[in-house]
Amino acid sequence: MAQRESWATRTGFILAAVGSAVGLGNIWRFPFQVGQEGGAGFVLIYLLFIALIGFPVMLAEFVIGRRTELNPVGAVKQLAAGRFRYAGWLFFTTGFLILSYYSVVAGWTFRYVLLGLQNDYVADVAGAEQQFLSVASGLDAVLFHALFMLAIIVIVGFGIRRGIELAVKVMVPAIIVIMIGMAIYAFTLEGSGEAYAYYLSPDFGYIGSEWQNILPAAAGQAFFTLSLGMGVMITYASYLGEDRNLAEDGLIIVGFDTFIALLAGLVVFPIFFSAGVNPGSPGAGAVFVTLAAAFGEISFGGLIGAIFFFTVAIAALSSAISILEVVVSYLIDEHGMDRLSATTIISVVIFLVGLPTTYDIVVLDLYDKLVNDILLVSGGFLIALFVGWEISDFAIDELEQGIGDLGSWGIAWLWLLRIPAVIGLLVVVLLGISGYYD
Ligand code: PHE
Ligand code: NA
Repeated sequence: MAQRESWATRTGFILAAVGSAVGLGNIWRFPFQVGQEGGAGFVLIYLLFIALIGFPVMLAEFVIGRRTELNPVGAVKQLAAGRFRYAGWLFFTTGFLILSYYSVVAGWTFRYVLLGLQNDYVADVAGAEQQFLSVASGLDAVLFHALFMLAIIVIVGFGIRRGIELAVKVMVPAIIVIMIGMAIYAFTLEGSGEAYAYYLSPDFGYIGSEWQNILPAAAGQAFFTLSLGMGVMITYASYLGEDRNLAEDGLIIVGFDTFIALLAGLVVFPIFFSAGVNPGSPGAGAVFVTLAAAFGEISFGGLIGAIFFFTVAIAALSSAISILEVVVSYLIDEHGMDRLSATTIISVVIFLVGLPTTYDIVVLDLYDKLVNDILLVSGGFLIALFVGWEISDFAIDELEQGIGDLGSWGIAWLWLLRIPAVIGLLVVVLLGISGYYD
């Protein structure tokens, strides 16, 4: 059998993981969740989930991946005895489902780049809504969904070094630089002060009365944005040849992702407020409708909008390739398929699974809620339970490879997984399930 692939450099691994993390989750989903869940209170709880549960779970995924050098399904099967053996399948299924609609939303962003270049954003919200519906449904949506899948087939088809690593080296720095530029631009807009207040000062009364919704939403968002709970970080860590400091790498990845999410809020909310559109309009389409309406309003909006959506589009690309890599690595490792056929065949199936979401945005909202409020947090729950309780002795040992003795930090990591992550995520899953049927 051919030798398994690996990253060429440490930066390559970090950039790929940052590229996976930073995506639609930060720039599209985060602002609409903030708008829907009442502003800064949501942001606060989200940050707590990132630090106390997301980061430890990320390290847990790294440990599984680096130890086994396998895809998530194979990795879990190798390490687990008994009841955990099949958990990897949950990751596989979730990845499948995420990519199927992620690609559709990414397709919209490419459409919005073109609309901006033609200076075609519609200034009023009702008109922007009409425009959005024509972008997000029917043949246009299908076509751009197909084009996006094609783009990631090409990148993933070229493999770890010549495909993914090369792509993220260009894309990730570009995303960071443009987003910083955008935030500076947004700061100069009229109404930015009001926007910052909405975005940054929490309303504790609202948290108190709405926690049943805010908790699962914040946890789901934390997992989605960090690419956790479905094996991306297991997969990417499985391509680490040598031992390096995973805690440090994890901090860098979490740091960049959080930075870009918070920055996206600093970009999007001032644009909303300056154009006088309501940030609280719910649903997956809201960010597109409101942003396009705002870009239709402000001067040079077409060009600025095109740059903005282009950034979102490349952020989506660098994330989507990581999701595809999870399923592809499974087919390569476990079924001995060659990379190109695995990538192509599975992409066609994923394309088909995504089609219903182009029929009606309501279906897309359902996919998105199922993935975020239930599947990713269930995956995170299983990982915390597994690493925290089942394989804890060698998990610490594995994390210490490349770091040295972690002392009480290692113990703290384990106990964060064992209690807050396990219990918190269990509660969140139950709330998410009950909320799903509301
Ligand atoms: N983290 C990505 C984003 O924020 C989405 C993603 C989720 C990627 C799960 C991989 C796995 O857009
Ligand atoms: Na993210």
